[in-house]
Amino acid sequence: MGVTGRTGRCSCSPPSYKDHLLLLRILFVAMLLQRAMVESRTLNYTRHTQTSTLRLERITRHLDKINKPPVLTIESPDGDLIDCVHKRKQLALDHPLLKNHKIQKMPTEMPRGMMKVNKEDEGESMAWQTWHLNGTRCPKGTVPVRRSTVHDVLRAKSLYDFGKKRARVPLSRRSDAPDVLSANGHEHAIAYTGSSQEMYGAKATINVWDPSIQVINEFSLSQLWILSGSFDGTDLNSIEAGWQVSPELYGDSRPRLFTYWTSDSYRATGCYNLLCAGFIQTNSRIAIGAAISPVSSYGSNQYDITILIWKDPKVGNWWMSFGDKTLVGYWPAEVFTHLAEHATMVEWGGEVVNSRSNGQHTFTQMGSGHFAEDGFGKASYFRNLQIVDMDNSLSSVQSISTLAENSNCYDIKSFYSNEWGTYFYYGGPGNNPQCP
Ligand SMILES: *[C@@H]1O[C@H](CO)[C@@H](O)[C@H](O)[C@H]1NC(C)=O
Repeated sequence: MGVTGRTGRCSCSPPSYKDHLLLLRILFVAMLLQRAMVESRTLNYTRHTQTSTLRLERITRHLDKINKPPVLTIESPDGDLIDCVHKRKQLALDHPLLKNHKIQKMPTEMPRGMMKVNKEDEGESMAWQTWHLNGTRCPKGTVPVRRSTVHDVLRAKSLYDFGKKRARVPLSRRSDAPDVLSANGHEHAIAYTGSSQEMYGAKATINVWDPSIQVINEFSLSQLWILSGSFDGTDLNSIEAGWQVSPELYGDSRPRLFTYWTSDSYRATGCYNLLCAGFIQTNSRIAIGAAISPVSSYGSNQYDITILIWKDPKVGNWWMSFGDKTLVGYWPAEVFTHLAEHATMVEWGGEVVNSRSNGQHTFTQMGSGHFAEDGFGKASYFRNLQIVDMDNSLSSVQSISTLAENSNCYDIKSFYSNEWGTYFYYGGPGNNPQCP
């Protein structure tokens, strides 16, 4: 940690956005209290009503900033509103470091060892997101953005927390474990590469399930992590993508395509999906944060998604593609510190929140809700794990380690085959007689 290789940046950061926000919050609370005191004497309003009104105003102002005016809005059968926003009007370009950013239409190079990629998959319609069932498409030159609602924000702990992973301070690092931030009841079943290798991307095919979530603010996700920086500092850079079920974030229990990024260990920078300025979307067919369909069913049809994230070797942006041919968009190199150079670790697997709400382990499921031992059609899998090397070539991951903090609740087993390369089954039911 420390020197980051980007000019004009060091680990000695100026007063952060978070500091300002804290100050604003203190001012805001002081203002509220004063108002409530005055009003409780003069008017018949309860303090609660006043607070809600002001809170709603704040939320509305925030939503006006992040929901850009759409050219067209498509109503998804699941209730989502998908706004088609002009590419040049997307939220990402509000980022102070992206003021004069010229949107990259295409990466300069795809990783070697994969199929040829079209600028955008214009092939036959893929019914892989629920909103596509409506039949209407976003017009050319626009990108589909899931609209955030007041209810979405109200389910979050606060406006500040909306769209963020809660700060996960690494309380205990097991000496036999990789650098996983496993505080705050976050539990993992993951595979990871050896650290301090230079990596420029990763790929995997993940099958999609709809695990049940016991408590609204718990979640269950299956994703890959592209990491650089230190886990015990404040400078961890992470790019994440996969599917997740999060009633708090989306108001339902559908598995959704999601992305996440941070350049300061989940503190002031970054967010899920397009909920803050950062990720630049180029695709007009894929809505990040929208529900995936169909999903796998136990002992029957299996459906999976393929995600590749890699660094453009010439320009330095981190691109994401979906399936074998579809470019989704990219994280500009500017928003990162360590990842402006390369990644030092890649992780694949599941994560859940165990809030122990009734003093016992959560029943929230990971993957399919079944243990790795159950195998194909029953357990969830990641297959064809690959990484992108310095020469921009994709290759099968040769040696991975696995970790499950509490294998009586969720576990993982890795294998190798010619067809699936390096792969693993993972997941579990959470609470059971062995996991009380
Ligand atoms: C799709 O959504 C648009 C906009 O909400 C609506 O006008 C149209 O009728 C919908 N189409 C279908 C097939 O539901």
